[in-house]
Amino acid sequence: MLATAEEVGRRAARVVLEELEAGRLAALGVATGSSPARVYEELAAAGARWEGVEVFALDEYVGLPPGHPESYAAVVDRQVRAPLGLDPRRVHVPDGGAADLDAAGAAYERALAERGGVDVQLLGIGATGHIGFNEPGSSFTSRTRVVELADRTVADNARFFDRPEDVPRRALTQGVATIGTARRHVLLAQGAAKAGAVRAALEGEVSTDCPASALRTFDDVLVLLDPAAASLLD
Ligand code: F6R
Repeated sequence: MLATAEEVGRRAARVVLEELEAGRLAALGVATGSSPARVYEELAAAGARWEGVEVFALDEYVGLPPGHPESYAAVVDRQVRAPLGLDPRRVHVPDGGAADLDAAGAAYERALAERGGVDVQLLGIGATGHIGFNEPGSSFTSRTRVVELADRTVADNARFFDRPEDVPRRALTQGVATIGTARRHVLLAQGAAKAGAVRAALEGEVSTDCPASALRTFDDVLVLLDPAAASLLD
């Protein structure tokens, strides 16, 4: 546990920068949403050289008009690609607008596999216990595919949209097993709204009821919590 939400972001950024400086960061896995926002600010401020680094997003909404500012392609472009000065051809986001979403999921898996998976995967956790958009019930062997978002997730995401009816109800997300292929994982959680999910993930049963509990089956996992997110842990 760290003293503040800001410290959570700073520590996660330090992990990424250490891997970059050691020449071990060929691919970075990025989450969207509030949890990693500070990480991207820290990475941009570090003035590091990012040439050659590939970036892979965890997920993308299905059903948004192309170019929507809250599509994860747009968010990753704004928060990660532009500030780090990355070549757009090195930034990958699942194609949630594809006519054939199953094929788009398979293509994303191939793109990840061709680059040997990501070296560091940044993760947030949903109040439902999701990682990526793998909601409760998602198999630990799941791969990139279309999913229905839980009602709670739709409600939580509504803050990014003008009208409730604009909030997407489906997404194309890396599966639990896809996320597990990352060499290192860094989960960030800040705020009391995450405390229950954090407890289920870290101290509950390892079960598809809480997809984030799969982290306990992954190889190299760092969990960074602020006091509110850690408040229900034993
Ligand atoms: C986003 C993602 C989600 C979020 C989670 C937490 O790409 O995959 O798992 O990380 O919903 O969202 P925030 O950080 O906005 O609370």
